[in-house]
Amino acid sequence: MAEPQFTPRVLSGIQPSGGLTLGNYLGALTRFVDIQDAGTHECLYCVVDLHAITVWQDPADLTAQTREIAAAFMAAGIDPTRSILFNQSQVPEHAQLAWLFNCVARMGWMRRMTQWKDKAGKNSEEASLGLFAYPALMAADILIYHATHVPVGEDQRQHLELTRDIATKFNHDFGREFFPITEPVIGGPAARVMSLRDGTKKMSKSDPSDMSRINLSDDADTIAQKFRKARTDPDPLPQTYDALKDRPEARNLVDILAGLQGKSPEAVMGEVAGQGWGQFKPYLAEVAVETMGPITAEMNRLMADPGEIDRILGDGAARAREIAAPILKDAYELVGLIRS
Ligand code: AMP
Ligand code: TRP
Repeated sequence: MAEPQFTPRVLSGIQPSGGLTLGNYLGALTRFVDIQDAGTHECLYCVVDLHAITVWQDPADLTAQTREIAAAFMAAGIDPTRSILFNQSQVPEHAQLAWLFNCVARMGWMRRMTQWKDKAGKNSEEASLGLFAYPALMAADILIYHATHVPVGEDQRQHLELTRDIATKFNHDFGREFFPITEPVIGGPAARVMSLRDGTKKMSKSDPSDMSRINLSDDADTIAQKFRKARTDPDPLPQTYDALKDRPEARNLVDILAGLQGKSPEAVMGEVAGQGWGQFKPYLAEVAVETMGPITAEMNRLMADPGEIDRILGDGAARAREIAAPILKDAYELVGLIRS
């Protein structure tokens, strides 16, 4: 077996556990597109349906949401001829490598994951075994392609550290630098978009309050209303971004504007310093509608032809398997499993 060469390769995934939020859009999608367009890395983007079912999903909704996320990827600018776009369950090598990682990762590592603690809550005895093993499958998503870089929002940092730990332990246990030690790509003003109702919680598709988030499917009126009702403190915007340090809700809205405009938050503050909320919020809503409106429209257009989406996902899965299959074969061989 030749010593593997790690080509610059990016993999990231989004769960089809609900519609996409502005957090997914700014924290993940726009950055996926930037990396694709830079042309420096081979890019694989997947809809992680096997991760979604670690908590209950209605089967018909799961199918529809998988197509919706695929449409959102394309509407945001992922080109399925330049990037490989697919859904995870169509590439069985992910689950096959995940089993090896279930045997490499330790219970204690998994128990420390904050996403596990948050999602399982007090009733962890009732949580699925899949939810506990979720990070090992995520490590497999990445390492089955020997991906070198993974763009994600801030909330995924801990899972990426675990991915590095799994790669390191596997390499050590089997005496080969077989898996790369993947670098997270986290950054920008919108790496952590917060809830519109509570500046200390991340904006999430699973938050019970729809007012806490902007959905990619929201129309212009809904977006304007959600920003109008977004929680803030009574003070107007200060002169500098630094002065927002202890004002999480206000800072979040400035970060969102910066993310939407592709500017630094400091540059945005230069334009909006001193404004009251009555002036700032409608402006923010207008920028959000202008940026997201065309994407939502394109997403709806693509979703009108589910057959075409399925064809694109099938094609992506076939291309993904070409990369994954030989890596899985080598990994099995290293472990000592016979595959004739
Ligand atoms: P998920 O919806 O949990 O599958 O997340 C998909 C991607 O969106 C991951 O890279 C997350 O880190 C990112 N993401 C989710 N919520 C947010 C948020 N509120 N702010 C920034 N990024 C986010
Ligand atoms: N756990 C990620 C999230 O909730 C989704 C995900 C699954 C992922 N597999 C991945 C992200 C691989 C990056 C790479 O956001």
